[in-house]
Amino acid sequence: MLPVLVTGLLAAGMVLVPAGAASAATTLGASAAEKGRYFGAAVGTYKFNDNTYMTVLNREFNSLVAENEMKWDATEPQRGVFNYSAGDRIVNHARSRGMSVRGHALLWHAQQPGWAQGLSGGDLRNAAINHVTQVATHFRGQIHSWDVVNEAFADGGSGGRRDSNLQRTGNDWIEAAFRAARAADPGAKLCYNDYNTDGINAKSTGIYNMVRDFKSRGVPIDCVGFQSHLGTSIPGDYQANLQRFADLGVDVQITELDVTQGGNQANIYAAVTRACLAVSRCTGITVWGVRDCDSWRGGDNALLFDCAGNKKAAYTAVLDALNGGGTNPPPNPTGNRLRNDASGRCLDVNGASSANGAQMIIWDCHSGANQQFTQNGRALQVMGKCLDVPNNAAAGARVQIWDCSGGVNQQWVFNSNATISNAQTGLCLDVNGANTANGSAVIVWNCHGGTNQRWARA
Ligand code: XIL
Repeated sequence: MLPVLVTGLLAAGMVLVPAGAASAATTLGASAAEKGRYFGAAVGTYKFNDNTYMTVLNREFNSLVAENEMKWDATEPQRGVFNYSAGDRIVNHARSRGMSVRGHALLWHAQQPGWAQGLSGGDLRNAAINHVTQVATHFRGQIHSWDVVNEAFADGGSGGRRDSNLQRTGNDWIEAAFRAARAADPGAKLCYNDYNTDGINAKSTGIYNMVRDFKSRGVPIDCVGFQSHLGTSIPGDYQANLQRFADLGVDVQITELDVTQGGNQANIYAAVTRACLAVSRCTGITVWGVRDCDSWRGGDNALLFDCAGNKKAAYTAVLDALNGGGTNPPPNPTGNRLRNDASGRCLDVNGASSANGAQMIIWDCHSGANQQFTQNGRALQVMGKCLDVPNNAAAGARVQIWDCSGGVNQQWVFNSNATISNAQTGLCLDVNGANTANGSAVIVWNCHGGTNQRWARA
């Protein structure tokens, strides 16, 4: 891998800096590798002749997954007739660059070839297991992790399986697929992959129970993929959810990450990255595409690069997080007051009240107790209470104090750009209207990193 890396750097006209433990890497893949993880992207071979696309891909990522080329409709267009040419192209590109490959996806209710959609019962079961065996055998030894089964659980509160032609062949179709995959490629990690599993909810708990059952009965499963197609918030228990799966004895991976562009995009990307780094069995992150214009999510601008291949704020947030930024507590605490950059005034409980609901303002910094914030985990304690916003508060909500509950709405993240965001909503502590006068209200607002959202220990 080293010769390729060196050639790539020289070709790009960059200066070679000797890698050392102290040097923060400057690409997603290299930075993740320093943390023992991979950082990958979903790719489509139809973009392989786009120079901008390939430049970003080759520079930033050390893992690839086929966005469509290894799905059932692509690999077995007619029953028993297999086509691996596009999948092989992705594998070959990855191997030539020392990148690993995720395999996606052996069995799924969507993107089945027409002939399989028309089958049922034992005939479909046989065809499905044969598909797993053939495809996993073809790629044997070249796949780091296979999504053996994709999206088999239902959305909503049931915690049960999704109805599909595969499910109707019998509840044991999933374990049959995992056993066939293990037999065909014993070296690949075998994953179950799904979406809407980003926090502890009925669907993720259904999957959790299946994995626990598989582990107890010796069904071969090694990993769980969390697609993480996210909107404008991230569940406060995202990391705890990853951890509970890891505690079952499987690896976890973020497999299809993309996040709606909006005030919180960079923060949410950073939060996902930090969560993975905090879970030792979280082995890597894959984003579902390279540039915004390559994304399956149309106008959401959900990725790390703009259409011209420029790095977005979300990219910097991820790289920063990979390099250890955004730690909590902050790296150099120098006092218990929080001074706002725009005004030079301090975060202050109005009237030095200790009542539930007392509101936060900015005021001239002084030594009173109503400006002293003591960190307890991610909680900030003041006047015997905790800095609080109402549960799932919208942008514009007043920040207040309330009895400490341990709730995620009372948890605050110190970001590397000096903003402080709420762990539940990702919204930032903000002086309303960028006012600077004594008494100006403090609210939560979409993070933009302006001086009215930046706070320094004082
Ligand atoms: C999507 C691809 O990105 C699209 O190009 C295709 O048209 C449909 O599938 N969950 C998955 C992925 O597991 O395979 C899906 O990929 C996105 C949702």
